[in-house]
Amino acid sequence: MTELRKNMQEAVDFIRTKTDFRPPIGIILGTGLGGLSKEIEKETAIDYGEIPHFPLSTVESHHGRLLFGTLAEKKVVAMQGRFHLYEGYTLKQVTFPVRVMKFLGVESLLISNAAGALNPKFRKGDVMIMADHINLLGDNPLIGPNDDTLGPRFPDMSEPYSHELIALAEKAAKDLKIKVRKGVYVAMQGPNLETRAEYRFLRTIGADAVGMSTVPEDIVAVHMGMKVLGMSIITDECFPETLKPVTLEEVISMANKAEPKMTAIMKEVVKRISL
Ligand code: HPA
Repeated sequence: MTELRKNMQEAVDFIRTKTDFRPPIGIILGTGLGGLSKEIEKETAIDYGEIPHFPLSTVESHHGRLLFGTLAEKKVVAMQGRFHLYEGYTLKQVTFPVRVMKFLGVESLLISNAAGALNPKFRKGDVMIMADHINLLGDNPLIGPNDDTLGPRFPDMSEPYSHELIALAEKAAKDLKIKVRKGVYVAMQGPNLETRAEYRFLRTIGADAVGMSTVPEDIVAVHMGMKVLGMSIITDECFPETLKPVTLEEVISMANKAEPKMTAIMKEVVKRISL
C-alpha cells in the first residue's frame, strides 16, 4: 500500500469513529462563500486539526472544519475552509481532503471560489460556471509515483467539469431566474494579485476568470473518477486598461454580497442531482 493510501485510510478510519455518514456529494467552500454551510442541517462537524494527515488552514478568512449533514434532503460533506498553494502547502496536502472525500463515498464534488474577471463582459458580483480551466500553478498534485488503485497515471482531461452537472447548474440558474456566466478559469499561484501585463496575457490565452484555487482539487477529483462542478463568484474586475487597486476586504465583501445567488444554485443542483 502506498503512503498516500495509508494516510487516506487513517483519516477515514478516524472520521468513522465520529460518523457513519456516506455522503454522495462533497462541497468545497471558497473565500467569503461559507454561507452554504449555514444551510446544511449539521449532523457532525470535525475540526481539520483532529483528522490525521489533514493540513490546517492558515488564512483567517477560512474556517477549518469538515461538516457532515443534509442539504436539500441529500447527504453532503462540506469543507468549510480550503487550502492553497500560496500558504506553503504542497498540492498533495491541498488535495488530500478531496481524496478522503472519495473514500467517504463522494461521487460528485461541487467547488466554489472567488475569482477576478478577465472577460470584459463580466462584472463584479457575477456568478460563473466553470466550463474548463488552465493550470498555471506551475505544479500538479499528481506529480510523483502514481497509485494505480486510486486512478490512472495519465488521467484524461477532456471533461474536467462534468457536462451533466454544468447542464444541471445552468438549468437550475434559469429556473431560479439567476443570470450566470460560463467560462474558463485560470489558476495562478498568488498570493499577490496579477499585474496588468499578466491580466492581458491571461485573457489572451483564453481565460475568462482568474483565481488561486480549485484546479488542484479538480485534478485529483478527476483522477479518482469523481464528477466536478466548479462555480466562481466574480469579486473584482481585472481589466488592464482600467485596473484599480483591490484589497482582500473588497474581495470578501463582494463574495459575501453575491454569495446568496451561488448558494441558491448550488442548493438546487444538490436537490436535482440524480444519485
Ligand atoms: N486574481 C485577481 N483577482 C482575484 C483573484 C485572483 O487570483 N481571486 C479573486 N479575485
